[in-house]
Amino acid sequence: MKLGVCYYPEHWPQDMWHSDAARMADIGIKQVRIGEFAWSRIEPSPGIYDWQWLDKAIETLHAHGLEIVLGTPTATPPKWLVDTDPEMLAIDEQGRPRQFGSRRHYCFSSLSYRDQCARIVTAMAQRYGDHPAIAAWQTDNEYGCHDTIISYSNAARAGFKAWLAQKYGEVTVLNAAWGNVFWSMEYQNFDEIDPPVETVTEANPAHRQDWARFSSDQVIAFDKVQTDILRALSPGRDVLHNYMGMFTAFDHFKLGKQLDIAAWDSYPLGFLEWAWWDNVTKERFLRQGHPDFTAFHHDLYRGVGKGRWQVIEQQPGPVNWGAWNPAPLDGMVRAWTWEAFAHGAETVSYFRWRQAPFAQEQMHAGLMRPDNIEAQGAIEARIVAGEMAVVADAKTAQAPVALIFDYEAIWAIQIQPQGRDYRPLEIILAFYSAARRLGLDIDIVDPSHDLAGYKIVLCPLQIFMSPDLSESIKASGAVCVLGPRSGSKTDDFQIPVGLPPGHGRDLIDLVISRVESLRPAHVEMAGVYAVTRWLEHIQSPLASRAQTSSGHGIWYQNESCDYIACWPDAQILQDILKERCQQLDMTVINLPDGLRLRRRGEVTFAINYENVPVNLCDYIEGARLMNFYIGSPSLPGAGVAAWSNRDHT
Ligand code: GAL
Repeated sequence: MKLGVCYYPEHWPQDMWHSDAARMADIGIKQVRIGEFAWSRIEPSPGIYDWQWLDKAIETLHAHGLEIVLGTPTATPPKWLVDTDPEMLAIDEQGRPRQFGSRRHYCFSSLSYRDQCARIVTAMAQRYGDHPAIAAWQTDNEYGCHDTIISYSNAARAGFKAWLAQKYGEVTVLNAAWGNVFWSMEYQNFDEIDPPVETVTEANPAHRQDWARFSSDQVIAFDKVQTDILRALSPGRDVLHNYMGMFTAFDHFKLGKQLDIAAWDSYPLGFLEWAWWDNVTKERFLRQGHPDFTAFHHDLYRGVGKGRWQVIEQQPGPVNWGAWNPAPLDGMVRAWTWEAFAHGAETVSYFRWRQAPFAQEQMHAGLMRPDNIEAQGAIEARIVAGEMAVVADAKTAQAPVALIFDYEAIWAIQIQPQGRDYRPLEIILAFYSAARRLGLDIDIVDPSHDLAGYKIVLCPLQIFMSPDLSESIKASGAVCVLGPRSGSKTDDFQIPVGLPPGHGRDLIDLVISRVESLRPAHVEMAGVYAVTRWLEHIQSPLASRAQTSSGHGIWYQNESCDYIACWPDAQILQDILKERCQQLDMTVINLPDGLRLRRRGEVTFAINYENVPVNLCDYIEGARLMNFYIGSPSLPGAGVAAWSNRDHT
């Protein structure tokens, strides 16, 4: 476990660098990320490199014992590059080039831009690849930030045709897979096929799904150019990329396979403001963030990183990009930091060292104020650094619960929601929260993950249910909970022969004969459960466990599988999980809204997301007698406790 910070030496006079590095070390920081936006300073004009300042910055940090994550600067191609190769710009839906003057203006498919990236990355890796201070490389910065995955450039158009030809071989195969006979959309050859944009009404969903897959693959191919160079020229160093929260426009599991560490950028208050929660929830957790949202991403990126992950940008104070940007509750920066460690982070690194007094992010807090006085974030980072000495470091063990997360399924729902408020992340989080409320640890995994050893497998959004997946669930011996719409499409975006849940029928004997989406105000009760948004009509020899007043079953069950035939409320998810945990002899703890637990090695952590105190004794038997490393049974708002779980949960 270590602390880090993001630093931009090029923003500050060189005579500040030594004292900056000394103060970082003094706070307890060990890792510093630099370089990721510095192209215009590294290569001020074509082919003319200025290494002097970067050499000095690296030496200065190194002299203070700080290890460096060096970012490749490819998220910010400089003006001269754009002017010499305007074709590298991404093209929006209306066919307009995205303009210079902020960042991320490039097109992932541009081959000439990939060459430029290869050139700058090679130059950097040749210069610093063996430097003892360089511990890792970060490729680019936040692929897709500011809505930049999709581009309709000529390069993307050509790339898409080639990608389709590669996938389908014959255009007749594509026509059949997409169902192009519908509306006379058949093609004679791959060359005729354009991206699904500016059609009169919606484009064919199969066309859009393949476009989403293609666009995701472009990100991975773009990254691979850099990763291959870094592996060759900087052996022994980790390569990572910093992912975002609430972002699903490319398949992170696929990219994660070619990298060593998944890093992600955690801004709990910004995400709370962005997401779907009602005003009451937003007000309640205004200064803390949602109790499950940050943890959800920690677990997701631990999966993406195959166990190795870090938070490389941690919100240290108010940010600048929400509709409103409150300050964290005092203690919350510390709590977020500990929560990331509890979920297995190797490093928690704050964004950024000092608040910049200029340009776009001048309203974004840093650990230091612009006048170089420590801000609240630094005070709390220092506290964590002190506490880290007393908490044993260990790897996270495999959790008892796996949640399957499928990026392709998210695209499918976005392409064909069928009800306006069928929000993919919301339903996934509902399953996740239900398990967390019971104090369970969760691994988030991709559909091809080996499920051996899990007791419960959650499939909140398994639109594509391959025979391999149903087989792997069966082989694991786990109980599985299938959400609505499971197995409702084939890979080609068609309704499966024999109707949904397709291969889900290998797990439970039922057929979905009809589905309906419901307007927001419409609620039907099924006993104690409220049915909203989505209802499936089921045919099954199994008796349903709950029915609506009009007689529609919403919960079906056999010995190892539960199927939920509606948008689930929190109660039904709780009841299913509790019942299954009981059958499986798994301990559950009924936690209140804002209190969450997580185990790492020998240590259990509790984080209080409320702004009022909670007492662990009210929820955990014997809490008073536990052996605490941090805190005590009584947690203040934003409080943290950590204890040995040798004798206790
Ligand atoms: C991230 C980004 C950083 C900075 C930060 C502000 O999305 O990677 O460069 O912009 O947000 O919160």
